[in-house]
Amino acid sequence: YNSLKINDRGNLEISGCDCVELVEKYGTPLYVMDEAEIRRRCREIRKKHIDKYNGIALYASKAFLNKEMCRIVKSEGLGLDVVSSGELYTAYSVDFPMDKIVFHGNNKTIDELQMAVELSVGRIVLDNFYEINMLESLLKGKGKRIDVQIRVAPGIEGHTHDYIKTGQIDTKFGFSLQDGSARSAIDKVIHSNCFNFKGLHSHLGSQLFENEIYISAVKILVEEYRRIKELYGIELDEINVGGGFAIYYSKEDERRNISFYSDIINKTVDKEFSGYGLKRPTVYIEPGRWVVGEAGITLYTVGAIKEIKGIRKYVCIDGGMTDNIRPSLYNANYTAVVANKKESEEKEVITIAGKCCESGDILIKDCQLNKLESGDILAVLSTGAYNFTMSSNYNRMRRPAVVMANKGKDRIIVKRQTFEDLIKNDI
Ligand code: LLP
Repeated sequence: YNSLKINDRGNLEISGCDCVELVEKYGTPLYVMDEAEIRRRCREIRKKHIDKYNGIALYASKAFLNKEMCRIVKSEGLGLDVVSSGELYTAYSVDFPMDKIVFHGNNKTIDELQMAVELSVGRIVLDNFYEINMLESLLKGKGKRIDVQIRVAPGIEGHTHDYIKTGQIDTKFGFSLQDGSARSAIDKVIHSNCFNFKGLHSHLGSQLFENEIYISAVKILVEEYRRIKELYGIELDEINVGGGFAIYYSKEDERRNISFYSDIINKTVDKEFSGYGLKRPTVYIEPGRWVVGEAGITLYTVGAIKEIKGIRKYVCIDGGMTDNIRPSLYNANYTAVVANKKESEEKEVITIAGKCCESGDILIKDCQLNKLESGDILAVLSTGAYNFTMSSNYNRMRRPAVVMANKGKDRIIVKRQTFEDLIKNDI
């Protein structure tokens, strides 16, 4: 981890901030994000996709979103992928440029579409016929036109957890290319006077370590571009290959840089489109996890320690599945380090358990760590994506605060929930 180190006091440091001091100041559980690392990654994307290939990059806000994150994305010049009126509203609340917002979702409601149209978001990604009809009547009423992409399911499978695969035939997302529904959606959109049809979108899944899958996707999509040109005489301006770029969680993972994906995607687009004599469309990518995942850690305080002799030692922390659902939902692996003392010789195999009333609330099973005592501070790494945004109030746990660390300075960007927050909507 570039931004993490152990300082002379033996404490973990993130972007120059001592984790023990952060805990004294803000308490635990605590999400800490490294702003410099987030910005570095945004800039990598700028350099290696936007500038190099004249591409467009949207940060997939579902990975980690709040006002401050929107401000950062805005200042780094990336666009935003939103999937709900809540995400859209958050962006709107900090004056995020609406023309740089792309609205996704497999069941956008009429209210959400209305909001998207009123705020003039840059693109709506059409996902199903119900939505096309709804949006069309909405736009007719207002005499407006809107730029759209059409989401298709290319019918290919990424090697990742079933719950985060999206490109296969049997999916709730997008129009199927196999059964003709994509073609009839394309036909409908081309003949409508409410839409400017900009291009096709496909998202293959998340945490994809292989880049070949993007080659397959582009090869499948280009066939449609060719068919559209032949049939309608139209050459589309854009192609959107979605997100899915993988990050490092634990030692079985390899680190992937952005070029690993952007080069292959862009070169395949060059080759395939020129091969058919088609103009090169602008390439959109939508990374979420890759931007923020490794930039975040979660700090916990160790509480009860229970040893079942000869079987297992449970080390319990003051958070768990309410701040990180991924191990229980996807069997996701994480790496933990002790944040308040130097590595010692004395290691042991422990299981890190959360405090929720679920046997499945285990963050890391059987990991080797320094011998821990109650009161120690534990850091779980690579928790920047899909942790804060998937957190819950199960067991009426209060959502942790989020702190931004940046080169020795720290500031709070989301306050810890209070008891009052928990009951404020209860009648
Ligand atoms: N674009 C679309 C249309 C998406 O559906 C997604 C993620 C992304 C982009 C961003 O994917 P990323 O670059 O972050 O892999 N909660 C799961 C991940 C769900 C991803 C859903 N869609 C997890 O914690 O692994």
